[in-house]
Amino acid sequence: MRIHAVDHPLVAHKLSTLRDERTDSPTFRRLADELVTLLAYEATRDVRTETVEITTPVTATSGVRLSHPRPLVVPILRAGLGMLDGMVRLLPTAEVGFLGMIRDEETLQASTYANRMPDDLSGRQVYVLDPMLATGGTLVAAIGELIRRGADDVTAICLLAAPEGVRMMERELSGTPVTVVTASIDERLNDSGYIVPGLGDAGDRMYG
Ligand code: PRP
Repeated sequence: MRIHAVDHPLVAHKLSTLRDERTDSPTFRRLADELVTLLAYEATRDVRTETVEITTPVTATSGVRLSHPRPLVVPILRAGLGMLDGMVRLLPTAEVGFLGMIRDEETLQASTYANRMPDDLSGRQVYVLDPMLATGGTLVAAIGELIRRGADDVTAICLLAAPEGVRMMERELSGTPVTVVTASIDERLNDSGYIVPGLGDAGDRMYG
């Protein structure tokens, strides 16, 4: 398990506006979309490619294209859906699977209510989209399912992460081929399981 917090002024700028409680839903959705594209650029640094021969108007040369099988992108509903467009803008040929997961507000336990993914993910690269890594329960369960189905390279893109969630991922997913790319590792979780300073409830701010 590897975590990469992207240090870039444009990421920091967009994230600050996203955090601001005065940012309305349409602006929040647009900024989340833009931020994902910036994070996706980092997250796809190791996307698998193969060499192809091409001919430019000047000469024959070699280039690269994305390898088969295609990468799979999995947004975790609800809030991860707001990250899908920004991701497939960079990876338009990716296959898309869906996981619906909800965290109990009292126990903070994650449960799955929808699962529409290929059964066999052997040898597949998978990109999971979830804006918040809070306790880590949601992502650990989601990524565990992907690895059980055979995924051999999983990258989670999160707008924000809490240190508690990062520690849970490191504990539960140690030795697995998992990378987390985030715009920020914040200070902590509060007693209600919200990231501090955070940005509130991403699902509510997008769709509430
Ligand atoms: C939020 C968030 C993550 C999860 C993170 O989803 O979008 O999926 O909580 O929490 P964890 O790391 O402690 O598991 P939520 O359950 O609020 O659902 P929503 O996206 O439908 O709003």
